[in-house]
Amino acid sequence: MASTGNAGLAVPQNLLALYAPVAAELDDVESLLQKELSSDNPFVDQLAQHGFRLGGKRIRPALVLLAGQATGCTSADHVTLAVATELIHTASLVHDDVLDEATIRRHLDTINARWDNETSVLLGDYLFARAMCLTSSLEESFACRVISQSARDMCEGELTQVHSRGNYDLTEAEYEQIVAGKTAALMASCCRLGAHYAGASEATCEMLAQYGHDLGVAFQIADDVLDLVGEESAVGKSLGTDLSKEKATLPLIRLLATVKAAEKGELESLLANSDNHRREALRPWLARYDAIGYARSQARLFTQRASSRLASLPHSPAVESLLGLADFVVERRH
Ligand code: IPE
Ligand code: IPE
Ligand code: MG
Ligand code: MG
Repeated sequence: MASTGNAGLAVPQNLLALYAPVAAELDDVESLLQKELSSDNPFVDQLAQHGFRLGGKRIRPALVLLAGQATGCTSADHVTLAVATELIHTASLVHDDVLDEATIRRHLDTINARWDNETSVLLGDYLFARAMCLTSSLEESFACRVISQSARDMCEGELTQVHSRGNYDLTEAEYEQIVAGKTAALMASCCRLGAHYAGASEATCEMLAQYGHDLGVAFQIADDVLDLVGEESAVGKSLGTDLSKEKATLPLIRLLATVKAAEKGELESLLANSDNHRREALRPWLARYDAIGYARSQARLFTQRASSRLASLPHSPAVESLLGLADFVVERRH
């Protein structure tokens, strides 16, 4: 991990290089984020600051800024929107850690672990509210609409996932629909907003949104791979929660679809086992059926499609970075 020099922002070195075209704006994002994550109420202030000491990867703010620069010029509105999207994302993580009963996030205790679920629910709502206050400070209502729509899609995706708990017959298409809502919708909105506020045409905004969608699906597939085979110390968050919450993610869907009929019963009883060794026990199965390799290759198909969406944009460092991000999301270890 490396710091940009701006207290609080720490992202992997390879990601920092991709952020270079918008480094100055990202420093402004960090300053505004710190301001938005403060409160006159000392307890709320303590909560809002928590988790921002090491910081996340800031991919969503970077997408707003890079999409803006790739299609025109960025302005103060981009910084505002970049912060708003990061607030929405953080709110969703605070709530998600309650759903998943996770104890580590961004290398720190989760809010639910250090405080409790009640505090997490309210803090998540608080962050959503701060995001909407900030977004509604812009002249145009467009951003409010786009951000609210992606928050709606995110909730629909998470609700469908909760509803699908323990359903190991989930199809790849159903999985993709969940992922499109819970992760890709916000990334698509980040790119759409970046392009729109840079003055891009409707067709270009749509193209960027499609890039963000495809990137987001690949990002979540890679995240689901990390949940099964990643290193908690590198990723900085609780892993294995997809298994404990009986979420059928792509590697598992693939494994269940390809396992020999004679072995299926053994695999199903392993998945039904509620002890903490499920993740380790599953690894040889995932390896034998190359389920991780399959998931990564599917993620790569999405990032290839994401990159192809940018083909008509004039060449620029920002476009290069968007292309580089497509490679990063599949190969990432964080
Ligand atoms: C985590 O997102 C939630 C998912 C959509 C998988 P990130 O991996 O972008 O989280 P931070 O912001 O870097 O912590
Ligand atoms: C949820 O997915 C992502 C959100 C949209 C909040 P995960 O449950 O896989 O996210 P992580 O792995 O906890 O970050
Ligand atoms: Mg989670
Ligand atoms: Mg995950």
